[in-house]
Amino acid sequence: MAVKVTLNPEPVAEAEREKLLEAPVFGTVFTDHMVTAVWTRAGGWEQPELGPRRPFAIQPENAVFHYGQQLFEGMKAYRGVDGALRLFRPDQNAARMNRSALRMAMPQVPEELFRESVEALVRADKNWIPGQGSLYLRPFMFADESFLGVRPADRCIFCVIAAPAGDYFKSGAAGLSVWVEQETTRAAPGGTGEAKCGGNYAGSLHAQTRAYEEGCAQVLFLSADGSGQIEELGGMNIFFVKKDGSVFTPALGTILPGITRASILALLRAEGTPVSEISYHFDELKADVAAGEIAEVFVCGTAAIIASVSRLKFDGGALEIGEPGPLAARLRATLSGIYTGAVEGPQGWSV
Ligand code: COI
Repeated sequence: MAVKVTLNPEPVAEAEREKLLEAPVFGTVFTDHMVTAVWTRAGGWEQPELGPRRPFAIQPENAVFHYGQQLFEGMKAYRGVDGALRLFRPDQNAARMNRSALRMAMPQVPEELFRESVEALVRADKNWIPGQGSLYLRPFMFADESFLGVRPADRCIFCVIAAPAGDYFKSGAAGLSVWVEQETTRAAPGGTGEAKCGGNYAGSLHAQTRAYEEGCAQVLFLSADGSGQIEELGGMNIFFVKKDGSVFTPALGTILPGITRASILALLRAEGTPVSEISYHFDELKADVAAGEIAEVFVCGTAAIIASVSRLKFDGGALEIGEPGPLAARLRATLSGIYTGAVEGPQGWSV
């Protein structure tokens, strides 16, 4: 379904935009446009519309405010080395959004609608891609129905907004301190941990507050069964590298199936690096660090790409991982190259 385009008659002036693009703090600067599409149970999807970015007019009784029926995606657009605009694996975002939609009892977004909406926004706001950065795209969907009963909404809005992005962490891609949360958990088997829905992130914020107090930028969550199985961070996945060169990451199940995570696994497997998706417990990590077995710890996500962890802090102690390792830096360079077309990636990754 083609996107109906109405360009913003009052875009941000060029000089102001250039200033905003100098060092955009992640998630604080937004572009001139947005795309919206309305779905109703009776009529299905209406034509998506691109127009000026504007506030929604939403009644206070809207279901999304009360029961949180919503979901989102994160993806990026780049200006390639050849000047062409590129998206990274958008088919994966479209597929994941629909898996989240299934879990949140929301409508499936046809891949064509998703793709055309994202592409229309990138085309309209291409001047917002920072020279050294990317345009972070945030497709999302929310229940839009005035109704306080608890049931799936009969009307939803799909929307895409964009934000020019530099580094996700103020400290850059290395030297991250992470708080290991042993009090609250993020997701339980059968819960919504695998869906990219706001509730998972809201539930992480209590621990995130503690993390900030402890001088840490992110939280590492452990499993809800009390066994101490390592899961993921509040907003990204985690990888461990052993001294023998083997690499592993927590298996899927209650964690977000990160597209950067999947891409790293694919790149490592393709080059023959031993890599596994396993169940790994915090006690094992402590023992491995004490035995000098852990060479690197890094985290990954669309927003952060890859960042090295230097320290894991917890109630009663800290694990010192040390200087950023070479694998994280190499993978970050490869992925960044694929994003912009400077490095040839697997077929279909850079679109
Ligand atoms: C992303 O990396 O795209 C996310 O959605 C995570 C969030 C911490 C920004």
